[in-house]
Amino acid sequence: MASLPLSPEELDLKELGDRAAGRGIAIRPLTAGIGAEIRGLDLENPLSPEDWGILRAAWLRWKVVLIRDTDISHEAHIRLGRLFGELEGHPVIPHVPGHPEILSIRGVEGVKPTPETIEGFRAYNKWHTDVTFRQKPSIASLLRARLLPPVGGDTLFADTAAAWRGLPDAVKERIETLDAEHDIVRSFGGRVTEERREQLRRDFPAVRHPVVRRHPETGEKILYVNYTFTSRILDIDPSESEQLLRLLFDRIKVPEYQVRLSWTPNAIAIWDNRSTQHYAVGDYFPADRVLERVTVSGDVVSR
Ligand code: OGA
Ligand code: MN
Repeated sequence: MASLPLSPEELDLKELGDRAAGRGIAIRPLTAGIGAEIRGLDLENPLSPEDWGILRAAWLRWKVVLIRDTDISHEAHIRLGRLFGELEGHPVIPHVPGHPEILSIRGVEGVKPTPETIEGFRAYNKWHTDVTFRQKPSIASLLRARLLPPVGGDTLFADTAAAWRGLPDAVKERIETLDAEHDIVRSFGGRVTEERREQLRRDFPAVRHPVVRRHPETGEKILYVNYTFTSRILDIDPSESEQLLRLLFDRIKVPEYQVRLSWTPNAIAIWDNRSTQHYAVGDYFPADRVLERVTVSGDVVSR
């Protein structure tokens, strides 16, 4: 990972704002908890160590940052992603031709949204953290808008550290030491053929993650179960697992934990995939919507 001129431990918002302003960069928070828009960064060219430090600190603090009007090339998108770490592809989501590092985020490849095919397009309008079916889920995604519908198609992000903090003490105590199972088939299984589903099962056996994880960089505690991939809490009664998951999945829906991003052409959102969930609002069909995602590999999840 690239060196960090401004570490999260020494993050002082006033200092960060001043440093950014000194370099012609403006950071505008969207809520007091999660989300910020950043202006004045040139993403087409390699970032200076100072600008990278500012971007990284803002990303850690605000969890999702949005940079608008940045018509970057595929190469610049990939280069920006690599500042955060190594990149990875995806076993089901198609990539942009010639660029295995860039996923094409769009309903179902080659299928037009019609009343009959619409279900497959709803894959992204479920709350989730990306790829928690992996033993090492990604730490960040950089999502760039290519083609937007005339109306709708926002993306919601939820702060899962705030969701943890907001839980009743009795629930915190109950779940803190538990693990849950995350399973690719629970979600992507519905988008592929039976044969492919069996292959996914073999390639991605269900994994175990703590229900409450610690952010390796900020130290925050994070509620780490999501509707899309978490199949059950392990080593407890199945009916209690079901009841707890229902409660925990619902906590993400509290509006005070969220920010809602409205896309504009060539906006790019960069989220911390450890401390957030997101949901693509499916309110634009049958119009089309195409985004491109670069995904940064992660590490084992720990308490
Ligand atoms: C993703 C995703 C959200 C969106 O790229 O991981 O869930 O708004 N996309 O398209
Ligand atoms: Mn996603």
